Amino acid sequence: MAPDTVIGMTRIDNNPNGGSIAVSVRGLVKHYGETKALDGVDLDVREGTVMGVLGPNGAGKTTLVRILSTLLVPDAGQATVAGYDVVRQPRQLRRVIGLTGQYASVDEKLPGWENLYMIGRLLDLPRKDARARADELLERFSLTDAAKRPASTYSGGMRRRLDLAASMIGHPAVLFLDEPTTGLDPRTRNEVWDEVKRMVGEGVTVLLTTQYMEEAEQLASELTVVDRGQVIANGAIEELKAKVGGRALRVRPADPMQLRPLAAALDELGITGLATTTVDAARGDVLVPILSDEQLTAVVNAVTARGITLSSITTELPSLDEVFLSLTGHRASAPQDATPADTREEVAV
Ligand SMILES: Nc1ncnc2c1ncn2[C@@H]1O[C@H](COP(=O)(O)OP(=O)(O)OP(=O)(O)O)[C@@H](O)[C@H]1O
Ligand SMILES: [Mg+2]
Repeated sequence: MAPDTVIGMTRIDNNPNGGSIAVSVRGLVKHYGETKALDGVDLDVREGTVMGVLGPNGAGKTTLVRILSTLLVPDAGQATVAGYDVVRQPRQLRRVIGLTGQYASVDEKLPGWENLYMIGRLLDLPRKDARARADELLERFSLTDAAKRPASTYSGGMRRRLDLAASMIGHPAVLFLDEPTTGLDPRTRNEVWDEVKRMVGEGVTVLLTTQYMEEAEQLASELTVVDRGQVIANGAIEELKAKVGGRALRVRPADPMQLRPLAAALDELGITGLATTTVDAARGDVLVPILSDEQLTAVVNAVTARGITLSSITTELPSLDEVFLSLTGHRASAPQDATPADTREEVAV
């Protein structure tokens, strides 16, 4: 870890609830002319954790990330990152953060390797170290074969990986990821998630914005839901999921005649108390709300005990729109493409 990072981390405020606060935001306000992009945002990110900031188009996510990474000055409120004030200590702050913006920030004309080397030099790394870091990060993000090709020839996923590699050059203590997988296909999205998980495993604190409930669930431990510049909910993912009714399982019997017996077996479980089991006769399956993986196991066990053979179990997360509707009583201002199809995963049975 670079000496600056160490200095930065020692300055992190102590949190009475345990764990240090790496990012602290209080009453942040930002206008663009008549538009109030941020309208009094508060949030805390504990060191070594991932905070998901979930919100639809125009919620203010990018504005928040730009202020926290010193690219934009707030109109009111305070924010510190690794103990540094975003307005008063921008230079020190920049040395301890990494940023992957919403849109690719690499130089398209330059090869992947040159992009990373150049950023290393901009961060004052000696030539030898910048070279070594570029090699190391290309290897780590599986881009070594494409090292000499201009970034313009990279696929969307490769560019995103190059962006992530670029944000890691300075060994950041705090990483900002603005919609890291929007627009990527599901397979590439998974690759990016794996990389983010690895960085978190190495102790990096992450604040990531997303429009996908599934992404928040995959990566974040805590969630701040924003709409029209305001925080409308925050807390541990499990708590928020419970508030919006958690996940649902779609359980399909191999034999359609078993649909009713299956529903009866699942009803008897009475596992959530939040909502009831729904039979979807047209689709030939049963929808069961669950709150945890243990409940998924309980469903499978109950079905097995009755001797019912299943052809599939699918987990469905609430869509962002459903989360909003549940938390605010109104639909998200601009419903996005977090369709149920994006949020389904097959579980082998
Ligand atoms: N440079 C700008 N000039 C004027 N208005 C802006 C500017 N940047 C953002 N806005 C407005 O501020 C609000 C918040 O925008 P912001 O980009 O922070 O939202 P977002 O949550 O990142 O949205 P998206 O999911 O589309 O990226 C929006 O109403 C947007 O139109
Ligand atoms: Mg944005």
